[in-house]
Amino acid sequence: MPIIGVDVEKCSNCKECIEECPTKNFSMEEKQEHIVFDGSRCILCGHCIAVCPEDAIKYDNMKDTTFIFEGNKDPSELISYEALHNFLRAKRSIRQYKPNKVPKEIIGKVINSMRYAPTGANMRNLKCLIFSNDNKKKILTDSIINALESGEVRESFRKRQEKGLDPIFYNAPHVLIFYSKNPWDTLNVTIAMTYGMLSAQSLGLGSCWIGFAHGILQDHPEIKKKFTGIETYVLGVMTLGYPAVKYFRAPPRPPIEVKEI
Ligand SMILES: Cc1cc2nc3c(=O)[nH]c(=O)nc-3n(C[C@H](O)[C@H](O)[C@H](O)COP(=O)(O)O)c2cc1C
Repeated sequence: MPIIGVDVEKCSNCKECIEECPTKNFSMEEKQEHIVFDGSRCILCGHCIAVCPEDAIKYDNMKDTTFIFEGNKDPSELISYEALHNFLRAKRSIRQYKPNKVPKEIIGKVINSMRYAPTGANMRNLKCLIFSNDNKKKILTDSIINALESGEVRESFRKRQEKGLDPIFYNAPHVLIFYSKNPWDTLNVTIAMTYGMLSAQSLGLGSCWIGFAHGILQDHPEIKKKFTGIETYVLGVMTLGYPAVKYFRAPPRPPIEVKEI
């Protein structure tokens, strides 16, 4: 059990953990001297670790360190609304890439950002397969195009291939395939990939969702097994690489209709 309980030497009985725990694993009855932890419903969200002013939550084997807000900063102080808003507006789906590969440690940074995305019930099943080998990417592109339902789309993609273009992965140096043993992880993967794509942009990288590849790998288990070796559920595919395009402005987007009742 990675969350072990409360260090009574440090605990000041402020009861923040009792209030904060979403599955109510902490308690302190009137006659009790210390807060008691019963981990039977614990989902390892770590909110107790985050909220404890005394750092009194004991845990083990969480495979990560904590990120301490220096000077007790509020997260809103980490980045301004304007900076974040403009960064989000500037995010583009990149379809032109430089051929050079991204160093492993930089890809690692992108994937590392994904681990902090929220997931339903704090389930953490996400796995990633990276295609960096150009020949293997080409074979995957061919198999996806061959499996496309619409003959018209298939033909137009093949014509683009004849011109040396990759109409599925845009000759990106890397293709990241996200999968999980749990088919209900789709939303979790979508959010994690969004985190990763934003993280990638902060590192000067570009990315693009590849719904075509996701759809084919999802609907054709034989292609998935043969070309990726994945036996569980493919829930998202994206390209990654250095953009070979420069944008001068962010395009306009329609407003979201909002109703309040
Ligand atoms: C779920 C999803 C699937 C997508 N699939 C593809 C795809 O297969 N190929 C592609 O070129 N772009 C794909 N895109 C990118 C969209 O076309 C793109 O987001 C849209 O054109 C708006 O451009 P922007 O992302 O630069 O704002 C996908 C986007 C999402 C969110």
